[in-house]
Amino acid sequence: MAIVHQPVLLEEVLSFLVPPRADSLMVDATLGEGGHAAAFLAKYPSLRYLGLDADPVIQAKARERLAAFAPRVSFRLGYFDELFPALAAELAEGRGERPDLVLFDLGISMHHYLESGRGFGFAKAEALDMRLDPSSSPSAADLVSQESEEELARIIYEYGEERLSRRIARAIVEARSRSTIATTADLASIVESAVPAAYRHGRIHPATRTFQALRIATNDELGRARRGIKAACALLAPGGIIGVISFHSLEDRIVKNLFRDLAGRSTQRPDEPIQEVSGPVEFELLLKKPREAGPEEAGRNPASRSAKLRVARRLAGGQAGVSA
Ligand SMILES: C[S@@+](CC[C@H](N)C(=O)[O-])C[C@H]1O[C@@H](n2cnc3c(N)ncnc32)[C@H](O)[C@@H]1O
Repeated sequence: MAIVHQPVLLEEVLSFLVPPRADSLMVDATLGEGGHAAAFLAKYPSLRYLGLDADPVIQAKARERLAAFAPRVSFRLGYFDELFPALAAELAEGRGERPDLVLFDLGISMHHYLESGRGFGFAKAEALDMRLDPSSSPSAADLVSQESEEELARIIYEYGEERLSRRIARAIVEARSRSTIATTADLASIVESAVPAAYRHGRIHPATRTFQALRIATNDELGRARRGIKAACALLAPGGIIGVISFHSLEDRIVKNLFRDLAGRSTQRPDEPIQEVSGPVEFELLLKKPREAGPEEAGRNPASRSAKLRVARRLAGGQAGVSA
C-alpha cells in the first residue's frame, strides 16, 4: 500500500495532545491515511484510538496501515458532524466514554488529489465528482449543472474568495446550455476562458479558487466543521484536549471563534452563529495564536504551508455538557 499523504504539524500535534492516562481514548475525526494515528499509537503503547472518516476508500487504507495496532484501534465510517452526536447518544445510553483527546485535520488528503479519481483537482481529466463519501449527494457535477447562476456566483465568491465569481458563474451557465460539464478538464477550460488574459498567467491556476469553492460546497465542509467541532467539544472529557488543523482562512475563522467563545472570550462576529454556545467558561486556549509549519516542514511538504493548528483544553472542573 503506497502512502501518499504526509501528516502535517505532526511534532506540534504530538507535543500538545498528551494523553492524561496511559489508556486514554483519542478520537481522530479525520483519520485519512492514518498518519497522525500511526504516530500516536507508536508513541503511546496503551492509547486507545477511534478513527472516523467519511471516505470508505481512504478508511480501507488506514485499516491496513494500522493493522499492527489492531486491538487498540476502532473505526467508524461517516461524517464527523453526525458521528460525534451519535457517540454522545451512546454515552447517554450508558455505552461508550468521553475521549481525552480529539484531533481534527480538516480538508482532504493527498490521496484525494492524486489517486481517488474523483476530480478534486484539475491536473488530470477526471469525472467532476469531489464527494468524500461517493454515496452522498450532490456531486460537484450536480452543482454546476443544477444551481442557479446567482447561487454558483455566491459559492465561488464565498468559498473560493474569487473576485471574478460572477463572470465565472455566467460562463458556467452559458457552457452548460451547450453541453454537459462532466469533467475537471471541462470546468477548468470554462474558467480559463472566462477570465482576463492577465489572470491566466498569475501565480496560481485561474481555476484553483473555483475548484476549492465547489469542493467546499459539495461536502458542506464549513457547516460540517462548525457542527462537528462543536459536538466534539461537548463530548470531550473534563481535562481533555482538542486540536484542530485548518487549511484556509474560512475554516480557521470557525475554529478561532468557537474556541474563543468556549473560553469565554467571544469575538461576537455577526457572520458566525457562535452565540448559541455561549455560557460558562469551560475551555482554556493552549495556543493564543495558531501554530504554523516551520521552514523545514514547509520546504519538505508544500501542503503544510497553509496549515494552522489551534488547541484548547476543557477545564477539569467544568461540567461536561456543552450542548452538542
Ligand atoms: C487532511 S486528511 C487527514 C490526514 C490524516 N490526519 C493523516 O495523517 O493521514 C482529512 C481527512 O478527513 C476526511 N474528512 C474531511 N471532512 C470530513 C467530515 N466532515 N467527516 C469525516 N471525515 C472527513 C477526509 O476524507 C480525509 O481523509
